[in-house]
Amino acid sequence: MLENINSLAEKFLFYLKKNAIKKSLSVTGVRNKFKLTDNQLVSILSIIESWGYTINLSANQIRYHHAPDSLIDTEIKYGLKTKLIGQSVKSYQSVKSTNDIASSLAESSQKDGLIVTAEQQTKGKGRLGRSWFSPLKTGIYLSVILKPKFKPESAPALSVMTAFVLAETLKNFTDSKIQIKWPNDILLNGKKAAGILTELSAEKNKINYLIVGVGINVNQTIEEFPKDLKETATSLRRVNRKKTDRVELLQSFLVNFEKEYLKYCDKRYLSSLKQINEYSSLTGKTVQLMVGKKLIQGVAREIDKSGALILSFDSKQIAVNSGEVTVIK
Ligand code: BTN
Repeated sequence: MLENINSLAEKFLFYLKKNAIKKSLSVTGVRNKFKLTDNQLVSILSIIESWGYTINLSANQIRYHHAPDSLIDTEIKYGLKTKLIGQSVKSYQSVKSTNDIASSLAESSQKDGLIVTAEQQTKGKGRLGRSWFSPLKTGIYLSVILKPKFKPESAPALSVMTAFVLAETLKNFTDSKIQIKWPNDILLNGKKAAGILTELSAEKNKINYLIVGVGINVNQTIEEFPKDLKETATSLRRVNRKKTDRVELLQSFLVNFEKEYLKYCDKRYLSSLKQINEYSSLTGKTVQLMVGKKLIQGVAREIDKSGALILSFDSKQIAVNSGEVTVIK
């Protein structure tokens, strides 16, 4: 019943967002359209208001006023032009980590394409056991649940694919220089603005699920970053000197992600290689990284179609599948 009234409230809200922004509608007309009694209308409006929306009601007129400044499911889903990714959304105010929530949802057999978002993470996870700075209402903290049919060995390329999708998306939100630092950091003007943490649950030959966690620094000011990040991290706000609409950015990312993901599921290799390599910050640089227990130094050549970084090293070429690269000056 609660599920039904909430989904009716969502439909009602979407109708108002579409039809009652520029002009008021007659309450009787809308009530009749949705076949609501007066009491039901009151309940629905109070649900919508409890989500943070403002609806103006006067005499027999109803008008949509404004949405909350919040990454809530109704805002994310409204007008979202995807078929799969983000059509189901679980949005939270504060969680430890959206990746952890997504993993437990995926365990309990939630759908492919469901996304989890939060306004804040208290234990946001970064790669290699690091934490991800996730202050309230300024960033995008997103986890996408995927249940692909391909084999576990095709999964690592999805991190590079996601970095590419982020780079392509950000192109429409900033004029600053966008780079991918292999495998999955996004740099704006040389500083880190977004990161990806992909977590895989698989059996021998089969992926149970894959969580693609994405953190984007959107509206943080430089003052808001902790001391140890001030030098190396950035945000869209810092490079653009203005705020970005997080819902618009997230929707655009989801649309681009779906396009690239479906292509990847079909081909099982990275097909936008030329563009991916154009974004790479490492090409031609001398880099160091640990491969197993060995520290190796080589020249980064290119990212290949499986997402590996090709390094020239001791007059041979090796493909590195994962790791933390340090550029040698
Ligand atoms: C990194 O660059 O180290 C990866 C950062 C990934 C952060 C995102 S925020 C949403 C999702 N939930 C997490 O706990 N981590 C990822």
